[in-house]
Amino acid sequence: MEPDRLNSPTTFEMPLEVMGHELQFSQDPNSKHLGTTVWDASLVFAKFLERNCRKGRFSPAKLKGKRVIELGAGCGVSGIGMALLGCDVIVTDQKEVLPLLQRNVERNISRIMQKNPDSFGSIKVAELQWGDESHIKQLVLHLTTSLALMLFM
Ligand SMILES: C[S@@+](CC[C@H](N)C(=O)[O-])C[C@H]1O[C@@H](n2cnc3c(N)ncnc32)[C@H](O)[C@@H]1O
Repeated sequence: MEPDRLNSPTTFEMPLEVMGHELQFSQDPNSKHLGTTVWDASLVFAKFLERNCRKGRFSPAKLKGKRVIELGAGCGVSGIGMALLGCDVIVTDQKEVLPLLQRNVERNISRIMQKNPDSFGSIKVAELQWGDESHIKQLVLHLTTSLALMLFM
C-alpha cells in the first residue's frame, strides 16, 4: 500500500478535511467487517460534494432540509458530507457497525457545531439490515416527508 494514501484498513484514525471542517473518523482494523473501514468511494464522494457545493444542485440552497438515507454507511463519511450541506440524513448499517458509526457521527457533529452549526442539517444513526421488514418499517415511521436521495456506495 502506498505510504501517502489517506487511509488503509490498518489505520485507527483517519483525518479528513472537507468543506472547511477538520473531521476525524475512527476505523477498526481489528474487525473483519466491511463497514469498519472508510472506503475510498466515500472519500471521493465527500470531495465531490466539496467541489460542487458552491452552486447548482449540490448547493446548500438546493439541499437544505432534503431527506437523505444512506444504506451501508460504514464510518459515516458520505452521510456527514450531505448533512454538512443542510440535508436531514439517516445513516444506516448492520448492527455490528453501529457503535463505530454512532461514535463517528457524535464526535464529528461536536467538531462541526463548534465551528459553523448554521449550515448543518441533521444526522441520525439507524439499524438497517437489507431486506429486514421490521427495520424498514421502523425507518418508514421516521420519514415524515419523502426522500430526496438514497446513497449507496
Ligand atoms: C463497501 S462498504 C462501504 C461503507 C461506506 N459506505 C464507505 O463508503 O466507506 C459496504 C457497507 O455496506 C454494509 N452492508 C453490507 N451488507 C449489508 C446488509 N446486508 N445490510 C446492511 N448493510 C450492509 C457494510 O456493513 C458496509 O458498511
